[in-house]
Amino acid sequence: MQKDENLKAMLQQLDGYRNYISNQLVSAQFPTNPNNLYDPVRYILDLGGKRMRPILSMMACELFSGEYETATDAAMSVEIFHNFTLIHDDMMDAAPLRRGKETVHTKWNENVGLLSGDVLMIESYKRLAKYDAAILPQLLRLYNSTAIEVCQGQQMDMDFEVRSDVKINDYIEMIRLKTAVLLGCSLQLGALVAKASDENAKAIYNFGCNLGIAFQLQDDILDVYADQEKFGKQVGGDIIANKKTYLMLTALEDANEDQLARLKLLFNESDHAKKVEGVKQLYAELDIRNKAEQQMNAFYNTAMENLAAINIPEDKKLPLKALAMYLLGRES
Ligand code: IPE
Ligand code: IPE
Ligand code: MG
Ligand code: MG
Ligand code: MG
Repeated sequence: MQKDENLKAMLQQLDGYRNYISNQLVSAQFPTNPNNLYDPVRYILDLGGKRMRPILSMMACELFSGEYETATDAAMSVEIFHNFTLIHDDMMDAAPLRRGKETVHTKWNENVGLLSGDVLMIESYKRLAKYDAAILPQLLRLYNSTAIEVCQGQQMDMDFEVRSDVKINDYIEMIRLKTAVLLGCSLQLGALVAKASDENAKAIYNFGCNLGIAFQLQDDILDVYADQEKFGKQVGGDIIANKKTYLMLTALEDANEDQLARLKLLFNESDHAKKVEGVKQLYAELDIRNKAEQQMNAFYNTAMENLAAINIPEDKKLPLKALAMYLLGRES
């Protein structure tokens, strides 16, 4: 009973943070013209999403300073950066759906996707650049190295589509770069503006990284098994694109000769529905979902150890714990 009440209170707190950031984004003064540059910007930002990265920045700031408002510009910056990566990612992945609606390049076109993504990246920098000169170099160093790592991860993800020698460790490194470091960065930015100690700033970054790896593993699982209505993206998209996800790599590793031959044929199958069904059948035979969930839980547990290592009273960490739990029980 008490536990349910606590969880309810924490979910309400999450909603509070989410509303705060959504209001900040809505009132952000983006110009109107040219329409084809700024309509997609407003479109993607208004589609919502979980707002997990800005919430992480604000929670980290609250954890170390007792007030989240100092992190507002950093929070805006990471959410805007994330939305930029989503527009370009959907072009790279030829994805038709995002947050239950048409992707930007489908609704407009690829040139519009490129440029509205670019302008979002600069808008993201503008928010970060509002911090005081005393702290800005530190923030920029972290932001810049993270943004470069995301590009590296995204290129590896694309390269892996056509490679047949990808190992599980390569995959973990790829998702660390494309997804996890931005979660670590979001938290560390919040810690830095709160003037946390170097040790604590590093520990919270590690928490974000391991949570981020678990989160991307879950995203890869959901890509195969989610309910289409709730997911908001095209279910089966990773299979269609020959992504070398943890699920696919484990299947390749565990398959017998006959199953391997079937899997390899499916890589070239042009009927998408047939391809997704065929791969799902093989995953079921090989218990792949279960294996991927075990790996996800292992990274989640490491993240919890990182959180425990932060030198702050345990009760103050509860909001971050609640967010981690919420994220890994997500359906969208
Ligand atoms: C999607 O991120 C991209 C991944 C790293 C899997 P989110 O799942 O956080 O997307 P939104 O912002 O909630 O839509
Ligand atoms: C996305 O990974 C990572 C970035 C956007 C940098 P995915 O390609 O799996 O993300 P979704 O599933 O399209 O959201
Ligand atoms: Mg994608
Ligand atoms: Mg992608
Ligand atoms: Mg995905």
